Amino acid sequence: MKIVMLGAPGAGKGTQAKMLADRYGIPHISTGDIFRYNIKNGTALGMEAKTYMDQGKLVPDELTVRILLDRVAKEDCRDGYVLDGFPRTIPQAEVLAGELDKISDRIDFAVNVDVPDENIVRRMGGRRACLSCGATYHVEYAKPAADGICDRCGGELVLRDDDRPETVKSRLAVYHEQTQPLIDYYEKAGVLRTVDGTQDIQVVFDDIVRILEG
Ligand code: AP5
Ligand code: MG
Repeated sequence: MKIVMLGAPGAGKGTQAKMLADRYGIPHISTGDIFRYNIKNGTALGMEAKTYMDQGKLVPDELTVRILLDRVAKEDCRDGYVLDGFPRTIPQAEVLAGELDKISDRIDFAVNVDVPDENIVRRMGGRRACLSCGATYHVEYAKPAADGICDRCGGELVLRDDDRPETVKSRLAVYHEQTQPLIDYYEKAGVLRTVDGTQDIQVVFDDIVRILEG
């Protein structure tokens, strides 16, 4: 099963994508996590991506597409994957569709996690992220078992650099301008499914599973 997660920054794409990946035994691929991993390790890719991310802008399509296509070509993606944060522009979606078309394949579902902007800003300040495995927590809604430590890998939990309120505003503006058009794009492809992302994390997940398995 090949799934694309759509939704504004902070809508819960990463949270749900991880849960889906566990349930279906397929990889969770987040371009944001790949960039953050590279930033943490001081790679050239990380340094380049950081200049865009810190301003809440998108990393250029050319760079992002190359990374994503490399990742989905790996053996563990044979039976599917959950894409989280990719595609983020129409050209990215077109490249992905073109690559899949070459192997007579396509995206099965684009799950749009719908959350209004007002809720987003509130969520971001409370988010804590693990830079080692990409897991996300919330100081109120999704607490780790031990303060500041990742349940999954024991890594340190931090407030992401781009979760400052000014940057969140830019990310939301970029989302509406460049990423939201993908909702129409996948609607036209007949694979769009929308869930109410303002509900509890488990309720959102149950809704998604019902859609995928319905
Ligand atoms: P990326 O890492 O993808 O960030 P994003 O899209 O801004 O999304 P987030 O990770 O912030 O939010 P999320 O939807 O995953 O929410 P989460 O589950 O954490 O990208 C970062 C940057 O990298 C971009 O700005 C760009 O510069 C660059 N980039 C990445 N991909 C790119 C691409 N394809 N092209 C170009 N540039 C790219 O949840 C948020 C918080 O809310 C958490 O604390 C969580 O615990 C909590 N929460 C989740 N669900 C609920 C719920 N139902 N109720 C209450 N709290 C909840
Ligand atoms: Mg995320």
